[in-house]
Amino acid sequence: MSFRYLGNKTRLTDWIVGEIARVLPSGSTIADPMCGTASVSLALARAGYSVTAADALTFPVIHARVRLLAKHPPEFKALGGYEMALKWMRSTAPLEGYFFKEFGESGSPANGRMPRLYFSAANAAHIDGVRDAIRKLNASGEINELEHNLLLHHLILATNKVANISGTYGYFLRKISQTARRPISFEPIEFEPTPGNHTVLQGPIEEHASTLRVDAVYLDPPYTKRQYAGNYHILETLAREDEPVAVGDGGLRPWKDQASNFCYRRNASAAFRETLEQLDVPNVFISYSQDGQVNEDQLLSILSDYGKVTLQEQPYARFRSNERVKSGSVLERIYHIETF
Ligand SMILES: C[S@@+](CC[C@H](N)C(=O)[O-])C[C@H]1O[C@@H](n2cnc3c(N)ncnc32)[C@H](O)[C@@H]1O
Repeated sequence: MSFRYLGNKTRLTDWIVGEIARVLPSGSTIADPMCGTASVSLALARAGYSVTAADALTFPVIHARVRLLAKHPPEFKALGGYEMALKWMRSTAPLEGYFFKEFGESGSPANGRMPRLYFSAANAAHIDGVRDAIRKLNASGEINELEHNLLLHHLILATNKVANISGTYGYFLRKISQTARRPISFEPIEFEPTPGNHTVLQGPIEEHASTLRVDAVYLDPPYTKRQYAGNYHILETLAREDEPVAVGDGGLRPWKDQASNFCYRRNASAAFRETLEQLDVPNVFISYSQDGQVNEDQLLSILSDYGKVTLQEQPYARFRSNERVKSGSVLERIYHIETF
């Protein structure tokens, strides 16, 4: 799944799973409660673990449900099968609705701001059409929850590919790019019949850390000040199927109730402690970058209060938005805590 997502570990999964496998036998249970694209969750599932994935935001939960729970294409009886479901999304009639108005080049935002150039007019109307069609189909009771999630997963992936942004949805580009001008397309995905029993939850780690009954937890918290809820507001709106007030020039949905303490330098240490305090598992693995909100010494000192800590590191090309920063690489780190 190609997905532009801050801090995603898609290209590091072999290393991460390899480090985990040195400690945790295949067949064990592991949680990935900050799963993002669910790339690590899926890699863990492929390696034979039973995975519990979660995230504070809604769209990662949709990705995780599809990537872990849809082991085969769902039946889609209502639409005549999976291929027909894709065809249905491709041929849905456009609609000049919320996306067209708030995020399309020919829109007229409710707050009177200039049109927001997140999408070409045609793509914005197609997105509105598909959103409306999914909402109606779901309300009719003719699709099950996994089919519903799969349709939303496709809509999110397709939308991402034609978004007129440089990496995140914090703002849009000043002119509609060639890529954003291309008609939105819905492509089939691969389904993976991974072994193991997987579970997907939603909510911040602070809410369910104490309920995780697993052999290990893999934490991949944000390490910069960039809040995911704000930077991916459009994907969250697609996943939640709502029409929130679009604030300011950028049209962000109100996101402060989903702000992560890991993104605030002043709160990140306490967020680590609060999480570790609640976890009752023998092994915790943490991915954290060299230039995170909590510096290396601080983090080592915090983690050492909860168990025996070992550290593995690997250089990793740094990305800012979707451009490789010329200054080279950062050290990506995995901490293993064998808890007391
Ligand atoms: C670095 S990304 C994870 C990337 C993921 N491993 C991947 O490969 O795509 C951090 C994730 O943590 C989530 N997050 C931030 N604060 C959280 C919290 N308190 N509880 C749960 N998830 C949180 C964000 O929504 C984001 O998806």
